[in-house]
Amino acid sequence: MVSATKPTDLDRRILAPPLGLREFWYPALLDSKVGKKPVRLQMLGEELCFFRDRQGKVAALWDVCPHRGASLSQGDCHFKGTVACPYHGWVFDGAGECVSVLSEGPNSGIPGKVQARKYATQTMKGMVFVWMGENEPAPIEEDVPEEFFEENSQVLYRTTDWPVNWRVALENSMDSHVYYVHRDSILMFARGPQDPYGRTPRIRPVFTGNGFNVIWGDQKVQGNPRRSWGFKDYIDILRGKMPYQDYHEGLGRWPKSKWRLLWNWVFIPANKRRWSKPPTTNNPLWGPGHHLPGMFRSDARTHMYTRMCVPIDENSTRIVYYHTTRPGSLLGRIYERVHFRLWNNWVMNIQFSNQDVKVMAPQRYDTVEKLSGTDSEIIQWRKLLQRVAIEGRQVLKDLQAEHLAKEMDTTEAEEFAVEQLKEQGTEDVAEFLAGTISGDDD
Ligand code: FES
Ligand SMILES: [Fe+2]
Repeated sequence: MVSATKPTDLDRRILAPPLGLREFWYPALLDSKVGKKPVRLQMLGEELCFFRDRQGKVAALWDVCPHRGASLSQGDCHFKGTVACPYHGWVFDGAGECVSVLSEGPNSGIPGKVQARKYATQTMKGMVFVWMGENEPAPIEEDVPEEFFEENSQVLYRTTDWPVNWRVALENSMDSHVYYVHRDSILMFARGPQDPYGRTPRIRPVFTGNGFNVIWGDQKVQGNPRRSWGFKDYIDILRGKMPYQDYHEGLGRWPKSKWRLLWNWVFIPANKRRWSKPPTTNNPLWGPGHHLPGMFRSDARTHMYTRMCVPIDENSTRIVYYHTTRPGSLLGRIYERVHFRLWNNWVMNIQFSNQDVKVMAPQRYDTVEKLSGTDSEIIQWRKLLQRVAIEGRQVLKDLQAEHLAKEMDTTEAEEFAVEQLKEQGTEDVAEFLAGTISGDDD
């Protein structure tokens, strides 16, 4: 019997540090949140202090005063472009340089000799990004989505804290839970048996350069092809020509009732319009799928949905949603804003996603798993970490390196998933899942 309390040695989950991947750019907070007072924020287990430098740009220092460890963010910005520690009044500028000691007067010998730890920052589309690594910052274009560098794109945000580890938050993406957890969400379109068990996300990894990695997924569908339901399908269901419920041997019908059909048709016109639109991007690096250091993207055609998971500490994650559109006019920009605030943000990022939080909050991440074919997306995401550990930025410490040295082509839990797929006759997916992740895979 394998212990149920510890992941096995061959478990890929060990590759993901509980406090996040360090050598990456992360979104921190809205530029507009930093006013006359410094702002404190915890990221990747570290406390940061945000304030404005002499140029008016948001700068970030470690929130621990190099004098005796007081919290800089509890201090004041007496002089433009600086923050003064609340304890002895050591004053630091945006570069982290101690420029004055208010409690010792202008003759203090400290200024010019002491530095607070500084984090590189860059503000784009109103969002302040921070380099959390110990090495020189990587090019920010590698970690921040393409739309942030486009003049005409509009990115709208929602930020919320979840009481779960970032790995749990990120791995809650496009697996089969969508059809179960969200069955009673407003957005869930009546699907019934249209997406059987064999609906298996296929993942295509894309790699360039130094740790710049994406997993880009599409769907392999068996049995009923995936399609948008039309009014005709509704009529077929009502007439009993098309099954809506599954029959589970010894249990009965599922879903238990057909009540969603009463009103789900309301979404048909909007869905038709949505799926007639082209993808919002043709760049596979920024298309739907996973992107390091903790991003999940889904192309809704009307907009690109991005869930960015920023570790706060081991037990909580700041979720930053990017809702990206490319409106062609001022009116379009206003429409997108209103639509996001009044509808999409609530129905997707609140109503839909809170269902996820409920399940994830008590979820364990340290027990032995048994995976299924529909977990292939997270399997590939975990393999991505392995790939990065070998070839990419120095994100993994000795512990991970040690585990990497061991055979890890297919873990026991993954092998279990592979067996299911083979039994279902989906050899190609099984083979793909069992294989080592590779850059030229297509
Ligand atoms: S601890 Fe910050 S000035 Fe003394
Ligand atoms: Fe979900």
